[in-house]
Amino acid sequence: SWKPENIVDDAIARVREQVGGDHVMLGLSGGVDSSVVAALLHKAIGDQLTCVFVDNGLLRLNEGDQVMKIFADNLGVKVIRVDAEQRFLDALKGLNDPEDKRKAIGGVFIDVFADEARKLSADTKFLAQGTIYPDVIESAGSRTGKAHVIKSHHNVGGLPDDLAFDLVEPLRELFKDEVRVLGETLGLPHAMVWRHPFPGPGLGVRILGEVKKEYADILRRADDIFIQALYDEGLYHKTSQAFAVFLPVKSVGVVGDGRRYAPVIALRAVETVDFMTARWAHLPYDFIERVSTKIINSIEDVSRVVYDVSSKPPATIEWE
Ligand code: XMP
Repeated sequence: SWKPENIVDDAIARVREQVGGDHVMLGLSGGVDSSVVAALLHKAIGDQLTCVFVDNGLLRLNEGDQVMKIFADNLGVKVIRVDAEQRFLDALKGLNDPEDKRKAIGGVFIDVFADEARKLSADTKFLAQGTIYPDVIESAGSRTGKAHVIKSHHNVGGLPDDLAFDLVEPLRELFKDEVRVLGETLGLPHAMVWRHPFPGPGLGVRILGEVKKEYADILRRADDIFIQALYDEGLYHKTSQAFAVFLPVKSVGVVGDGRRYAPVIALRAVETVDFMTARWAHLPYDFIERVSTKIINSIEDVSRVVYDVSSKPPATIEWE
């Protein structure tokens, strides 16, 4: 029978057997999968694990600090935080096309990660990854050409040839829900383990067109207001994914005595089981109204908030 404690014990035993006394590095993104691997490996091999957390400047409000707090401060995991915001922003300069942006973000990610891997490689033999069973199936599908690539999803892997690590993938046989239960058993915070999915390119595909730091800063605040409100009103777990999108078009507004001419924020929330199809979430009108008012009142650089009523298909969940 599937008992989380047994899975944890079994996974720990297998990791110890595979790794022995060697060192392991892990790219920690703050997402569920890599977080569970971090917690599991820390329990299995303690200080033989070093995590690398790349702050790409495209994270949500306070996300980097939260990751450091949970892993470094609370769990005592060795985490190297790399502040790479400027490198990502530089690479994104002048890029408007979503796939070009994804490629740029993926490319810088590999470069930054490879730099850290080189520093650690002298005494590190293994690279851990949060590959889960659906990833295994999906990549098998794409090798046979069956998967339709609508958006190139950005994952780790693809490190330069001079960096050869053996892989540690303790979640390879598990489904997402099993990974979440494992995470809770390992003591990760409930909110982190049950969080909505967040794309690898982060806010990079939620700022339409060219990415700028000032846009990311506005989007972070708007997104945080929306997400906090969903939590506060017990609606977060009634949606499968929810977020704000930054639209770089200016719209006129009137706030107090003043005229405002500023960008627009779109709110997106969907209900789905598999993320292949999705229905726009029928959030209560009064809830949307409260969020809209709060965003416009607290962020000067937003003139208007709109709610996305497109389902998938034909729309995708992300706007890019
Ligand atoms: P779409 O927008 O294709 O999204 O309906 C389906 C799910 O995939 C996520 N997504 C991504 N995840 N890298 C990722 O890691 C990406 O480039 C990417 N694009 C979309 C999206 O957030 C949703 O959960």
